[in-house]
Amino acid sequence: MRKLRMLTAVAALSIGVVLHAQTNELLIQTKKLGAEIQPTMYGLFFEDINYAADGGLYAELVKNRSFEFPQRLMGWKSFGQVEVRDDGPFGRNPHYVRLSYAGHRDKRTGLDNEGFFGIGVRAGEEYRFSVWARLPEGGAPGKLLVELVDTKSMREQQAFAAAELTIDSKEWKKYQLVLKPALTNAKSTLRIFLASNSTIDLEHVSLFPVDTWKGHENGLRKDLAQALADIHPGVFRFPGGCIVEGTDLASRYQWKNSVGPVENRPLNENRWHYTFPHRFFPDYYQSYGLGFYEYFLLSEEMGAEPLPILSCGLACQFQNDGEHAHVPVGELGSYVQDALDLIEFANGDVYTEWGKLRAEMGHPKPFGLKFVGIGNEQWGKLYPERLEPFVKAIREAHPEIKIVGSSGPNSEGKEFDYLWPEMKRLKVDLVDEHFYRPESWFLKQGARYDNYDRKGPKVFAGEYACHGAGKKWNHFYASLLEAAFMTGLERNADIVQMATYAPLFAHVEGWQWRPDMIWFDNLSSVRTVSYHVQQLYAHNKGTNVLPLTMNGKPVTGADGQNGLFASAAFDKEKNELIVKVVNTSDKALPIALNFEGLKKKDVLANGCCIKLRSADLDADNTLEQPHAITPVETNVSIDGHKLNTELEPYTFAIYTFTKK
Ligand code: AHR
Repeated sequence: MRKLRMLTAVAALSIGVVLHAQTNELLIQTKKLGAEIQPTMYGLFFEDINYAADGGLYAELVKNRSFEFPQRLMGWKSFGQVEVRDDGPFGRNPHYVRLSYAGHRDKRTGLDNEGFFGIGVRAGEEYRFSVWARLPEGGAPGKLLVELVDTKSMREQQAFAAAELTIDSKEWKKYQLVLKPALTNAKSTLRIFLASNSTIDLEHVSLFPVDTWKGHENGLRKDLAQALADIHPGVFRFPGGCIVEGTDLASRYQWKNSVGPVENRPLNENRWHYTFPHRFFPDYYQSYGLGFYEYFLLSEEMGAEPLPILSCGLACQFQNDGEHAHVPVGELGSYVQDALDLIEFANGDVYTEWGKLRAEMGHPKPFGLKFVGIGNEQWGKLYPERLEPFVKAIREAHPEIKIVGSSGPNSEGKEFDYLWPEMKRLKVDLVDEHFYRPESWFLKQGARYDNYDRKGPKVFAGEYACHGAGKKWNHFYASLLEAAFMTGLERNADIVQMATYAPLFAHVEGWQWRPDMIWFDNLSSVRTVSYHVQQLYAHNKGTNVLPLTMNGKPVTGADGQNGLFASAAFDKEKNELIVKVVNTSDKALPIALNFEGLKKKDVLANGCCIKLRSADLDADNTLEQPHAITPVETNVSIDGHKLNTELEPYTFAIYTFTKK
């Protein structure tokens, strides 16, 4: 199949044969300005799955930096006299290590940290090492030798960066130094030697690149954050996904644990460590170093509306059948309070309890939160009966906040059909729909939203991706079908107000779920074709829908439409006409874009066509070939108000013209 598809595509691409002669005439009614396309329309879904946060976007390079993993030295190797103790300075992270003299001048005491699949560093760049330390017995200052080493190579010297740190106080204090590696190494080890005869206690051992995104100390990996910002997302949903819910209530995501000084944010387990036994990662935990403050800040710095999702008091229903993982409805008080306090944390003034904390963390100005989601993939009556008290309390205290409910994990079916009316009854503002579905589903969903009730809640397509038949990982054809499906989101912008592909990130060594939008290793990252599809939509969004039809019907890939999907928009600020056309067929198709309703004197200037296509439908960008499939832009000239052109097989094209 793979070969056949590829050959068909190559043949049609290379000889440019027009296999279907009749022109597909797309009529765009330029005078009928339709629904507003919301600024939130194309956004990002973030969850700490596939090492997306710790080991990924969060730039911390040390794993288990606070010695709080259940196996206290997991991720570390200790040598000499190392003792784990539990009366440290940070109440919610009480463990630390004591390094003592090894008993002989030639013997060594210390620790190695393996990082996340190694520690990736670049020659000449700066890395900030920091540690909380003390001399428990007082006396003369003690010394630590901090190194970056490569224990696997045959180089004469293992260390390629080294610096000494003097510990001079009996009290706990933060110390730091900067390491500048002499070489680039994707898999180095952080080594700490006790370099004096003293006893030294260490807690919260950290190593960050100095050059993080926007330069924040507790910052984000630059290439990964930049990839997010480059989308120009309209909304940023966090922190998930299933991790919102938890395997049990104790392991749900609790935002209050993720704010305040990083040293005192308690560790949480990460369900993705054990969800798939064939991709088991026993050392995958959530440090919460990337917490709600950082998520709000990132949203602001990307220009996206923050959309936090909170637990509704139901632990993951996939993992729990009985009632034991559910908070009784009458006992939801603290959960509801968490939601109200979150709104205060984001928007309250600095004299409120939570607004004050935000200010202390560095952001006195409110974050301007407008949306909050309650529950992730919930189903059955357990969900609406829990959602109800949240809706009541939020409406009463914060009528300005829009509430996002859920239609469960399925794109249709019994649970979906039960939940939508319930969401209407509860009058939530948006309903979060999820669909990880095969190619055949995407091909049939072009008209999905055409007949949705216009009077009920709006739609948030909160998690979706095309999972190609037989192979659930990134490839061009799946991304092409996402582009095709998205014409239907755009055409129905009066009801669909947000859409976020999922999941966002995956470490090539640490993934649990694929396909994903951005892949990375310890030093580099790659933007997949699905990334480019999302970006093309976000960059060519427009402000209003324009009606587009072929033979009087919307172009949804229906029978008789030759595998075409299309939508059109107008950008009032740029005075720009935007037409998106996806040819999902294996044939080159003659198409005409007929811009109806323009005045004779109107000129369509600056014609441009951006195409995303590939000769190999199973291919995608990789770390080795990150630019294999990228959008190609060409100028287009139009004769009057009608463009006659040809669209190659398996092609996503965007045409733009400035109306003058
Ligand atoms: O995106 C991966 C997972 O898919 C999310 O955590 C969950 O909401 C969905 O089942």
